[in-house]
Amino acid sequence: MAVKRIGVVGCGAMGAGIVQLGLQAGYEVVAHEINDEFLQKGLGRVKGAIEKAAAKGALSVEDKESALHRLTGVTDLQELSGCDLIIEAVPEVMSLKLDVFKKLDTLCGPETILATNTSSLSVSDIAANTSRQDKFIGLHFFNPATVMPLVEVIKTIRTEPEVFDTAFAFVKSLKKTPVVAKDNAGFIVNLLLTPFLLDAIRALQDGVASVADIDASMKLGCNHPMGPLMLADFIGLDVLVNGAKSLFEEYKEKRYAPLPLMKRMVTLGSLGLKAGKGFYDWSDPKNPKPMDL
Ligand code: 3HC
Repeated sequence: MAVKRIGVVGCGAMGAGIVQLGLQAGYEVVAHEINDEFLQKGLGRVKGAIEKAAAKGALSVEDKESALHRLTGVTDLQELSGCDLIIEAVPEVMSLKLDVFKKLDTLCGPETILATNTSSLSVSDIAANTSRQDKFIGLHFFNPATVMPLVEVIKTIRTEPEVFDTAFAFVKSLKKTPVVAKDNAGFIVNLLLTPFLLDAIRALQDGVASVADIDASMKLGCNHPMGPLMLADFIGLDVLVNGAKSLFEEYKEKRYAPLPLMKRMVTLGSLGLKAGKGFYDWSDPKNPKPMDL
């Protein structure tokens, strides 16, 4: 199966990163957002990052021009109908995803592969609502998508081997490392990462140490690029709570259950970096200050 033209539904932080990766790998990319305001913001993010890469010498002027030339922004899903592969990166709300795929399923030709970037929902649950379970797959990118080298490729029991091979090769063409995961909650990374982050929040909640000292411990003691509480802020507390809920729902194990502190933080809007407050005060994003929680 040849992939030349890709569609990306949702041009937020993850979607914009995927659009940029597709352009830099030579694909024609159609980026979709729900309205013009969100679309312009998303396209601005992509164009800014490509300009920055060119300014640093990571892209030649010709490659930059070519990449920008292959980018189309749309607000009508109909315009994605000619794509060979469409990756959905809309918020982690099942009804939103089902709505997007129901429309794409009707609009696209039978050969179009549909992929979800979900981190916490079941790929099978989403695929089941389309008429092309065999052409449905999970492609889970990590944040920031342009920087993190891994993509989890999630096949369901219905994914056609040829579709899997195409998706796997596509990930490699983006210069990412694909790993294969079954459609279990958390796939591989979040299955292992979520309990670690929950344990860090539990340590804070139980008064074991401060935000700064928990993070310093894992950064300096284990060489992690950022401490677990900063990473929780980076991921978003709402995303983390949803992921933990999915794991708890699937495995019914206490270690996956969202903790009271993080639930209250979500209730009060302390979602992390994107909200300006979480375990850190992000008023100055270059100099986050630990909160006294
Ligand atoms: N978006 C895009 N690019 C970013 C970025 C962002 N938010 N933050 C940093 N970068 C880029 C920088 O531009 C820089 O690129 P360059 O090398 O081309 O100049 C590069 O990343 C390194 O940035 P910095 O030197 O400023 O900062 P660091 O060396 O501290 O790296 C980091 C920043 C890559 C974010 C690093 O701290 C890190 O790896 N943190 C852990 C990230 C992580 O674990 N992500 C996975 C989250 S889990 C997930 O996504 C799953 C989901 O389902 C929840």
